Amino acid sequence: MKHLTDIEHLSKDEILKIINTAEEFKNGTIKPQIEGKTLALMFYENSTRTRCSFEMAGKKSGMNVIDFDAPNSSVSKGESLKDTLENLYAIGIDIAVIRHSYSGIINNIINEVKSPVKFVNAGDGTHAHPSQALLDFFTILENFETIENKKIAIIGDISHSRVAKSNIALLSKFGLKINLCSPSYMAFENFEKYNAVYTQNIKDAIEGANIIMALRVQNERHDKEGYPDSSEYKRLYGINTQLVKKYAADDVIIMHPGPVNRNVELSSELIDSDMGKTILEQARNGVYVRMAILNTLLEERTEV
Ligand code: CP
Repeated sequence: MKHLTDIEHLSKDEILKIINTAEEFKNGTIKPQIEGKTLALMFYENSTRTRCSFEMAGKKSGMNVIDFDAPNSSVSKGESLKDTLENLYAIGIDIAVIRHSYSGIINNIINEVKSPVKFVNAGDGTHAHPSQALLDFFTILENFETIENKKIAIIGDISHSRVAKSNIALLSKFGLKINLCSPSYMAFENFEKYNAVYTQNIKDAIEGANIIMALRVQNERHDKEGYPDSSEYKRLYGINTQLVKKYAADDVIIMHPGPVNRNVELSSELIDSDMGKTILEQARNGVYVRMAILNTLLEERTEV
């Protein structure tokens, strides 16, 4: 594992190595091995969880953390991302954690940058968000004795959601049953490739589900014309306690990558219930999973 670009490039063994390392960091049975290495946080799109979580993971690992100020950087003077990264490597960074609105930009930049900097995709457009899928999988594994025959319902703006796509790629590798539910204009075309089932009916999607993962409507990525307002979306795809109790499995957990629009994709009551406590577990686990990602990538660094 040279970089973390997307889930498709990871084997099951590589995924389990990150999960097991994260568990050991959480339990305190291993110590980080990357003290003194330098991490650059390069966020060209807004973030709360991913950015703060990677910063915390870097600091807990004894790393130097450069909080690259993308809007005020020399990118605004026309410097390319490739040249920015070559310069940051010359200054001394070992790893760049990048969030960007262009889908596929991390895969492209890896081929352009000559310096042996490591890359982590912290979310690129509508393409991938691999660290989120890994922390989601870690949280699922923590909540169930076995994932055999477990069913997940992923509900919402799937076509624009990098979180959904990375989760579908990861969870299908481990044989979970995946129900996808959205209005037709938010559907994911490639669902059959992952043995997922698609429905527009929310009751069918959550029937017997052990995990319900709600997604934020990605308004910023929509051509607004023809899209429903949030009250219409809530009426058809909003998830509330009543619906969950009536249709989902007794052991159901509610997940959401955040940020949540309360009372749109999930009711406030459900978020604050025992079933919804998983949402903050996801954020907590993210730190350990990202420590595992940073340590796994940097332990293998070859000096030039
Ligand atoms: N889940 C997630 O990516 O959240 P942020 O946009 O706050 O990082």
